[in-house]
Amino acid sequence: MTTPTVPSELPTATGLYQTLYLVALALHGLAAGYVLSGTAYMLVHGIFGRRNPSPKPPGGLTVADVLWDWMPFAVGAAITAGVLPLILVQIFFNTNYYTANLLLFYRRLALVPVLLIGFYLVYLPKSGIWSRVPRSVRVIGAAAAFLCFAYTAHSWAENHMLSVTPSVWPQMYAESRTTFFHPSLIPRLAIVFFGSFSNMLLIVGWQIVSGGTVSRTEGVVSSAERAAGVESDVRRSATIALVTLALALIAVGSWYALADPVAQSAFISWRALPFLVAALGGLVMQSAAWLRLRSRLSWNKGLLLFGSGGAVITLLGTLAVRECIREASVDLAAEAGEHAAAARMGGWGVFLICLVVNAALITWCIRAVRRGLPAQPSKAPELS
Ligand code: HEM
Repeated sequence: MTTPTVPSELPTATGLYQTLYLVALALHGLAAGYVLSGTAYMLVHGIFGRRNPSPKPPGGLTVADVLWDWMPFAVGAAITAGVLPLILVQIFFNTNYYTANLLLFYRRLALVPVLLIGFYLVYLPKSGIWSRVPRSVRVIGAAAAFLCFAYTAHSWAENHMLSVTPSVWPQMYAESRTTFFHPSLIPRLAIVFFGSFSNMLLIVGWQIVSGGTVSRTEGVVSSAERAAGVESDVRRSATIALVTLALALIAVGSWYALADPVAQSAFISWRALPFLVAALGGLVMQSAAWLRLRSRLSWNKGLLLFGSGGAVITLLGTLAVRECIREASVDLAAEAGEHAAAARMGGWGVFLICLVVNAALITWCIRAVRRGLPAQPSKAPELS
């Protein structure tokens, strides 16, 4: 264990890589959370959708429709957005990151086939054949997709925890063990899972308001029908977001109770306090937005903006607290020399050009797909 650092004590290069890593991981977290909670939503929709007589706005887009439409893209985005934090974490957290990976060995490598399977499973609903297979098979497909992404999330969390617990490495190596379990892993995953619903629903809300729900359904159904459908969808989304945010808070409490003393004291340290307060403030903003949306019963852009601002603050605050805990567990400053050497290597210009070119390409892809969407929205598969 080392003495926790404060920002001013972090060497410039280390601080630079850590800050870049935080921003990159936040982007990855948004996309990965969308996939995780989105596939869970699709699974529940697959099981109960038909029993609910008014699950979707007639003729309009629902949360489920958007998820079925965009999940393959979201999986691609989560995987792509994982690359930058993966590169950065290997630079600023070199020894610990590699050792944890090597110890978990083929369980980590299993991520590749698992992600491939998950990727194709979320594509299946787009095929015509899929709508003709029995409902039970479709539910199994949705469950398998969710399990693939849940395994992926578990694998990253397990690896992270192992990397900040060097004391167990010798024994794991001696016993040739490729699993690592800590009781706080379960609430840690619960924080990620429950915490991602509000983010996912806010993104879907934006997709609905900007995806032309109204224009794409103009003339297809009456405005009264559409309004009634939208109302039930917004009410359901707000309820899910509020309940899962509360569950995420309970998970934070459980994580704290089960965490190691080093992690506990880093969590309540002065260093982490501002980030913790920010994360809580963001959570209050999100809850307020969802409460208002629940009473207004429409995808109001102003409220979506307010809630999204809160979501970004919570995400960045939580990730910063996560870093404070990492700093308290391992000696980042010891790798400062390597960080400075890496920063001197150059390549920043190429990095920035690639960033801009790739961002432009992804934006172009999204616009091209949206232009290509049919005038009538594709529906989440009927479950009869
Ligand atoms: C849809 C698939 C994925 C999901 C659901 C997912 C989920 C997660 C979760 C939940 C975490 C946080 C773990 C924790 O702190 O407890 C995480 C971290 C991370 N993920 Fe992903 N992930 C996915 C794919 C990927 C891929 C393909 C890459 C790499 C190309 C990647 C790179 C990372 C990195 C670098 C971290 C941070 C590791 C660390 O700080 O120790 N992820 N991911």
